[in-house]
Amino acid sequence: MGEIEKLLERIKGELSEDLDNIICTKDLEEIKRKYLGKKGSISVLLKELGKLPPSERPRIGNLVNSEKKAADLLIIQKLNTLKKQELQQQLEAETIDITLPGAEFRIGKHHPITMVMNEICDIFIQMGFSIAEGPEIETDYYNFEALNLHKDHPARDTQDTFYITDDYLLRTQTSPIQIRVLEKEKPPLQIIAPGRCYRKDSEDMTHLPMFFQVEGLMVDTDISFRNLKGILNEFSSQMFGASRKTRFRPSYFPFTEPSAEMDIECGICEGKGCKSCKFTGWLEILGCGMMHPALFERAGYEKGKYTGFAFGMGPERIAMLKYNIADIRLFIQNDLRFLKQF
Ligand code: DAH
Repeated sequence: MGEIEKLLERIKGELSEDLDNIICTKDLEEIKRKYLGKKGSISVLLKELGKLPPSERPRIGNLVNSEKKAADLLIIQKLNTLKKQELQQQLEAETIDITLPGAEFRIGKHHPITMVMNEICDIFIQMGFSIAEGPEIETDYYNFEALNLHKDHPARDTQDTFYITDDYLLRTQTSPIQIRVLEKEKPPLQIIAPGRCYRKDSEDMTHLPMFFQVEGLMVDTDISFRNLKGILNEFSSQMFGASRKTRFRPSYFPFTEPSAEMDIECGICEGKGCKSCKFTGWLEILGCGMMHPALFERAGYEKGKYTGFAFGMGPERIAMLKYNIADIRLFIQNDLRFLKQF
């Protein structure tokens, strides 16, 4: 065997060893250069051919050329195998477990008290009422004085008040909005006023120091107690269902005369009497009455010209009655297990 043939054999052996040892396509570039590049061992051999005696050249030339082709082929095959391996590795490394549950998309919703407030407002709006608002920091005049609760009136004691100064306080009720509306607008009036109220009460199952009220009033030249009953019965039948009976009980509020409290039949015992209704068969839902003439006079209305009714209700209480909730504190504890039920 001639010198060149020996060399070729060695190169073949080295190439196949080199190809066996590499693990990535980058290394293959190096190998290509080592054997087939300008100064690669096979290319060098080709140049050496000129030095051979002419009779040997064709045979050895063929040998070297076919080795060159074979090397090319081996490199391409290796390239394909490596590419496949690399793709496989990449696929394995980057697999996504499509069986994992996706990120939960949570949609928020209104608080149950907001829902009940909206429901109350909708019922009255549909009966022709519009919405009025007043400040939460109120003056002593609007919160008490103008509603016939003078400085030494005993009923003031029932509303433990957060005073800011002697004259300013956190409103204890939405009733001051009645006065603000009377002063600002002229009858006929048909208004409801929802909003927050504050009292220095310790919290328990039925009390919170901050709560909501919805006030209502209707004023015109001949509004009577019949209108009051008609409107409030319609409200009750839309809110609690037409089959729930209502009743009006005489009561006392300084700014209405006569005054009443409205009850609905207990939904748990259907009026038979149970623990929830203290065995009376009835549950109180709101206070109401015919507006006291002094309110009109103070607002500068012509004496005796107008009559009107007013009412005030607590949305928390309405929600508790509607959904049979025993403890008012659940509304402010932000327990999602509770809030999600509405
Ligand atoms: N403001 C009263 C309270 O907080 C509720 C009330 C009773 C409002 C009778 C009224 C009404 O407008 O006529 O206890």
